Amino acid sequence: MLPQADMIRILLVGFGHVGRRLAEILSCRSLYPGLAGLNVSIVGITTGRHGSLIRPQGVDLSAALKDWQSTEHFPVCAGGVSMMDSLQAIRSMDYDVLVELSTLSVAARGEPAITHVREALARGKHVITANKGPVAWAYRSLRDLAAAREVSFLYEGTVMDGAPIFNLVHRCLAGNTIRRIEGILNSTTNVILTAMENGMSLEQGLALAQQEGVAEADARLDLDGWDAAVKLSALANAVMGGELSPEEVERQSLFSLPPEQARTTLASGFRLKMVCRVERTDSGLRASVKATEVPLSDPLALVANRGSMIRITTDLLGQFTLTQEHPNLTSTAYAVISDLFCLLGRQ
Ligand SMILES: NC(=O)c1ccc[n+]([C@@H]2O[C@H](COP(=O)([O-])OP(=O)(O)OC[C@H]3O[C@@H](n4cnc5c(N)ncnc54)[C@H](OP(=O)(O)O)[C@@H]3O)[C@@H](O)[C@H]2O)c1
Repeated sequence: MLPQADMIRILLVGFGHVGRRLAEILSCRSLYPGLAGLNVSIVGITTGRHGSLIRPQGVDLSAALKDWQSTEHFPVCAGGVSMMDSLQAIRSMDYDVLVELSTLSVAARGEPAITHVREALARGKHVITANKGPVAWAYRSLRDLAAAREVSFLYEGTVMDGAPIFNLVHRCLAGNTIRRIEGILNSTTNVILTAMENGMSLEQGLALAQQEGVAEADARLDLDGWDAAVKLSALANAVMGGELSPEEVERQSLFSLPPEQARTTLASGFRLKMVCRVERTDSGLRASVKATEVPLSDPLALVANRGSMIRITTDLLGQFTLTQEHPNLTSTAYAVISDLFCLLGRQ
């Protein structure tokens, strides 16, 4: 835990949609009364290909966002300090918390984010990430490293954009064994299926999802079920005690469906949904992402457009669902903020 009175020094890796929204919120904290007393300073921002901004005394976020708007690149030298790449900054800078918001890479099995997280934890730094890769491919080793160094490894933003899934399970379900988790966890495919019910093509639905900013940088990761598979692995590993890699999740691609299927399914009294499921079986955890005809009476059928839902079945509490109606970048950025409050022991 961090001392509440002290300034939290953050190294921010990744300045894309989520990183910039986080910077916007932090730069106008007075608009959000609940953030009074959140004493943070960003001491460095690194990106993959767009330079870095290193300011040990604290980055002026409003100025950084304004400059970014005009050039979409950080200057080679700022405040007399030269650029650094992410790994250099993680290994050498003085900071309290690494906030890791770099791109998810399925092809590289979660790297380089896993290395970023590991290097920071090894130095005794707390880590917050919304990147699913480290939780899906390296959860146990990172959790154990964090415990050995007596720091926190937090990842609330990885599934359902800030809705408190991991905090809920870790803090409120003591004594339960989770038997099954199912839900709608990928907004892009849900936007497309809703659009296809309304007579649009897959391509038109994808364009809508891209306009709304919910699609991954490489949208095939959404359509082929990889994004959902990575989320299922994160859930299996972090809340069901498993060691399930995304490659072990059975996946169905949206491309495999006939174009008219969403409409014909609706006409027959069901809704076609990409349902994600992970459950305990006699042979261990089994997970799948599959197009499923859901009865209209099932709450899963009510999740339209970019909404998401998770239904958790436990042995003692039984079954309950959590719905997120209109997740957006603010809710994902909030996940990082809620993890910061966790570090301060205020959640
Ligand atoms: N967007 C959402 O709604 C959402 C929701 C939940 C979780 N997430 C996850 O949150 C993370 C960030 O999402 P996003 O939408 O902000 O992604 P994004 O817009 O694609 O931005 C990714 C950022 O990561 C940077 N990056 C890539 N490789 C890097 C490296 N090696 N070192 C440092 N920075 C690197 C990119 O820099 P360059 O552009 O210079 O390469 C860019 O600034 C992703 O892992 C995503 O899956 C996103």
